[in-house]
Amino acid sequence: MSNPLFIGEVTHHFERLTSTNDYAQELLSKSNPSEGTVISTDNQYQGRGQIGSLWESAPGRNLTLSVILMPMFLKADQQFLLNQAISIAIKYFISAYCSKTVHIKWPNDIMVDGKKIGGILIQNNLQGHQIVSSIIGLGININQKLFTEAPNPTSFALQSGQFYDLSEIKKSLYAHLEHWYLQLKSQPKSQIQSEYLSHLYRYRENTWFIDQQEQRFEGSIVGLEETGRLKIVSNGKIRSFGIKEISFLK
Ligand code: BTN
Repeated sequence: MSNPLFIGEVTHHFERLTSTNDYAQELLSKSNPSEGTVISTDNQYQGRGQIGSLWESAPGRNLTLSVILMPMFLKADQQFLLNQAISIAIKYFISAYCSKTVHIKWPNDIMVDGKKIGGILIQNNLQGHQIVSSIIGLGININQKLFTEAPNPTSFALQSGQFYDLSEIKKSLYAHLEHWYLQLKSQPKSQIQSEYLSHLYRYRENTWFIDQQEQRFEGSIVGLEETGRLKIVSNGKIRSFGIKEISFLK
């Protein structure tokens, strides 16, 4: 993987910060940061996760950072493609260090050994039908071995027993992100979609889910709609679900 050209060229690093995503949003509202600007911190003490959850990260042990991108080539209704490209990039970044298979659990949890090793929180700023800027928030568990809040976590260190130099692996992360972001820009969108499906956790496997009405049901993931809704075959019928409408039972 070649060196990144624009991701990480400008970085704002802080010893402590509430949330790198919040700082990135503030930076965008007050100034004109260049594409690829990274905001990172050693100690993110109010990290935000998906659907209003908190992101646990022990100080100095993990990667907690946000990258500012300007994917003006995407329409607002193509937001999920950005999620897919970023998920693929993180999958390959982790695979470069981890011998076990890395899966993407829909919509964008990164899993090793059935446990979560990384999370992605993307916030898009829209103008009309265009995406004008995106904040790619990434939390990747590297050297942390003990977790108190996170459900079902793992880390690079838990997987391998080794210690990792964060500044070293950050560069590899930026290179993977840049590669897949440029692929998204230049390749047919169908390639990103099929790449994503090929790494999808429990794709075409019998799986138990729970829906919004707390109904448990067994089904098998068969694909995605363009908007990112998950298609599941259950009892011979195809049903589709948005992000807050379904959870995996395990
Ligand atoms: C998830 O719940 O899976 C998403 C977690 C995203 C965490 C990262 S850490 C850096 C960035 N800043 C935040 O406040 N959250 C994201």
